[in-house]
Amino acid sequence: MKSMPYAEPWRIKMIEPLKTLSRDERMQKIENAEYNLFNLKSEDVFIDLLTDSGTGAMSDRQWSALMQGDESYAGSRSFLALKETVKNLLGFPFMLPTHQGRAAENVLLSALLKEDDYVPGNAHFDTTKGHIEFRKAHAIDCSIDEAGEVRAYHPFKGNIDCKKLEDFIVKVGVNKVPVVILTVTCNTGGGQPVSMQNIKDVSAVCKKYNIPLMFDSARFAENAYFIKQREDGYQDKTIKEIVKEMFNYADAMTMSSKKDGIVNIGGFIGLKDENLYRECTVFNIMFEGFITYGGMSGRDMAALAVGLDEATEFDYLHARISQIEYLGNKLKEAGIPLLEPFGGHAIYVDAKDFLPHIPPTQYPAQVLGVELYIESGVRAVEIGTVLADRDPVTREERVPKMELLRLAIPRRVYTNNHMDMIVWGLQQVWENRKSRTGLRIKYEAPIMRHFTATFEKI
Ligand code: F0G
Repeated sequence: MKSMPYAEPWRIKMIEPLKTLSRDERMQKIENAEYNLFNLKSEDVFIDLLTDSGTGAMSDRQWSALMQGDESYAGSRSFLALKETVKNLLGFPFMLPTHQGRAAENVLLSALLKEDDYVPGNAHFDTTKGHIEFRKAHAIDCSIDEAGEVRAYHPFKGNIDCKKLEDFIVKVGVNKVPVVILTVTCNTGGGQPVSMQNIKDVSAVCKKYNIPLMFDSARFAENAYFIKQREDGYQDKTIKEIVKEMFNYADAMTMSSKKDGIVNIGGFIGLKDENLYRECTVFNIMFEGFITYGGMSGRDMAALAVGLDEATEFDYLHARISQIEYLGNKLKEAGIPLLEPFGGHAIYVDAKDFLPHIPPTQYPAQVLGVELYIESGVRAVEIGTVLADRDPVTREERVPKMELLRLAIPRRVYTNNHMDMIVWGLQQVWENRKSRTGLRIKYEAPIMRHFTATFEKI
């Protein structure tokens, strides 16, 4: 018997028209953009998979909450609604709003880090790594070995190897490790989840050495969905119950609300310790804004409170992650090499296997992104050597184990016909893959170069 198909638990009330360009026009546009997809105008993109961040569609409930936003500088009703939601849903009594996720990292890491500290975790996201390295501290990847293998199956590839973690803490000394960061789901590793068991084990190591555990929580709800689907003992729990249990083990969290908050901008910090909260308020006021708005408008906080509630509903998550599986399965059937298992917010194409004739320092995943845009107007993003950037000390290129092109799917935005179009686009590139050539960097910034680098064809 065939299993029941899925369908989105919503219907469409408003649409945004998209424009199509010819292949020749797209070739000109990407040349003008100096082969950096971030330099394209969005109107020249047909399906935008650059990111799932801030690109979701809000619900009618969120739009109506937005209309009732309280824009008071201090003590706004919308702030209190968000604070209540963070407390009830996630279990953090203290909350500071920030304008987005990296701002939350900036505030919290200002309070926690000093020069030459070490911050172990699973693979840190690039802004987190940027904030660590900017403070002349070091980001240490203690992921399980399977995390670096494109097609090694592991249900929780985002897990930390607790032996690596503990050995590292012992090696450098507890005093050099002010925080451990667990990213749920792990974006850099391919949108891969962390199991509840691993969360418990990492927390036990942190408790043993009295080190606070912070969650980078951008996609916490998707992580909870995978726990429900894949981990024994969680099938009958609700997503909200699983989320509460996950955060039970965290001392602090940073959030990019642009992902599992399903809003277009915003972030926050959740804290359990009042002293740390007080330290953070100083930085929040300095960098973000007063503690009851921190860079967000009242209406955005109101919409976020509703978004957090909607993102932790099973039916929503089931439709979202099933759509990503639909895309992944179609690409796999077409023979396109992919990172597996599929991630929670994106499909990652294995550019190393796709374009084996292009060496990492000629940026095969960037080439693949450029060619996909030319063929079909689909914009994806490189997660490979360009993103990995240079070593801050030696300035050598850091060649990562995986060269990936990420197809990030915005929340509640595209239909499966769009997914079919993406498959078609990649098939066009696949058919003439041997004729595609590498890229050379013309300009790069000293940190986080991928956003603004320019390229030329070799
Ligand atoms: N942490 C993770 C895991 C992220 O994926 C991001 C952003 C951030 C922190 C920073 O949050 O953008 O609100 O400042 N990821 C986006 C992406 C940019 O495309 O994956 P932000």
